Amino acid sequence: MLLVIDSANIESIQDLAECFPVDGVTTNPAIITKEKKPFLPLLKEIQSIIGKERMLFVQVLQEYAEEMVKEAVYLKEEIGGNLYIKIPVTAEGIKAIKQLKQQGIRTLATAIYTPMQALVAAKAGADFVAPYVNRIDNLAGDGVQVVRDIVEAFDRCQLPCQVLAASFKNTQQVHGVGLAGVHGVTAGPKILKSLVEHPVTESNVKQFVEDWKLFYGEACDSVIHTQ
Ligand code: E4P
Repeated sequence: MLLVIDSANIESIQDLAECFPVDGVTTNPAIITKEKKPFLPLLKEIQSIIGKERMLFVQVLQEYAEEMVKEAVYLKEEIGGNLYIKIPVTAEGIKAIKQLKQQGIRTLATAIYTPMQALVAAKAGADFVAPYVNRIDNLAGDGVQVVRDIVEAFDRCQLPCQVLAASFKNTQQVHGVGLAGVHGVTAGPKILKSLVEHPVTESNVKQFVEDWKLFYGEACDSVIHTQ
């Protein structure tokens, strides 16, 4: 399962890329503007941290297909590397995805709320679809179920498109999409870190060190120095 950081914050990306097995970074206009930095230099800085081989997802801003395609081509030329263009799943977006597929530019269809949107995007040639789990939950829907349905439909229709579930507010949602067989998740730094946090694990680790010190003493703070 792919693990992707949904953030444009340099410090958080640096920190997570160092300790977590991350596969890339997703951004969107809201995430980018939060950083209050020039757009292209910020994306290039993110790419220099994660490396050109890891995936970087950047969203277009235009509303119409022709402009979306122009923006995508520009981003591909300027940023390069393992870049995926995020395209909102509107009718114009689907048109852009079709054209970008023909040009060999890879895409992720974003702002997905229903399995049908995902199916049409996949059929148009999107490499990824991003269902918005928490935003679906907030609309009294079932985000995990939508992801499960998309995964199953892609499988049954043999569509070579991956489901990168997005918009998470808690670890239970990540757990749910994992069980649904999702291909990847993109989540903010706080949620990603919380995937391995547990207060009992922390206290167990403290107790192991205390037990060790009881026999080997305070000075012997590492097995390397313990004879
Ligand atoms: C990612 O691709 C989406 O843009 C993002 O996850 C939306 O998440 P939010 O609902 O937390 O804003």
